[in-house]
Amino acid sequence: MDAIDAIRTRRSIRHFDARSIDREHIELLLADASHAPWTPISAPRPWAFTVIEGREQVADFGARALAYARAHRPRREGYNWLDDPDFSVFHGAPAVVLISGKQANPTALEECTRAGMLLLVAAHARGLGGCWVGSPNIWLAEPAHWRELQTPVGYAPMATIALGYAASIPPAPRPFALSINWL
Ligand SMILES: Cc1cc2nc3c(=O)[nH]c(=O)nc-3n(C[C@H](O)[C@H](O)[C@H](O)COP(=O)(O)O)c2cc1C
Repeated sequence: MDAIDAIRTRRSIRHFDARSIDREHIELLLADASHAPWTPISAPRPWAFTVIEGREQVADFGARALAYARAHRPRREGYNWLDDPDFSVFHGAPAVVLISGKQANPTALEECTRAGMLLLVAAHARGLGGCWVGSPNIWLAEPAHWRELQTPVGYAPMATIALGYAASIPPAPRPFALSINWL
């Protein structure tokens, strides 16, 4: 698959088959992600990767993140998903990658977002499926939880990606009309 095919055919995967992912395969993806461009102020180590392995452990973290989010629900619109009794944070994925950035780095969120995007496209190109998940963010905003996840000191989780082998691939959403000003 060439780069253009990978970019244009990647979809968010929410159904995974029974296979787990080898560490070597995940390490390749993390190496791919680390080819993202980074700003000089972020060096060295713009990112720290954490891999949660195994369906049970992933589901357990997901259940805790969901329970925490329900108990600390923000008083704003956009959180109706917390009322869905069947809501799944990690969609039964066999692995989750957390990308953490330096707390003191004002561009850390951008660094993690760039690496996460590359990871998703690389996963697809290497035969895996992934879904960026924002639903654990309420739970991940609490530093006590970073210690449970053994996030390196000075880093905070900023991007979360569920990974596995796709059992089904959703159709592409209707593309947005491009907004272009030619000058
Ligand atoms: C920051 C961010 C957070 C997201 N959070 C979730 C999530 O919590 N659960 C989920 O199933 N999908 C989540 N998505 C995936 C989007 O729903 C998906 O990217 C969008 O519908 C477009 O579909 P596509 O990725 O298949 O092109 C998230 C995407 C982004 C960029």
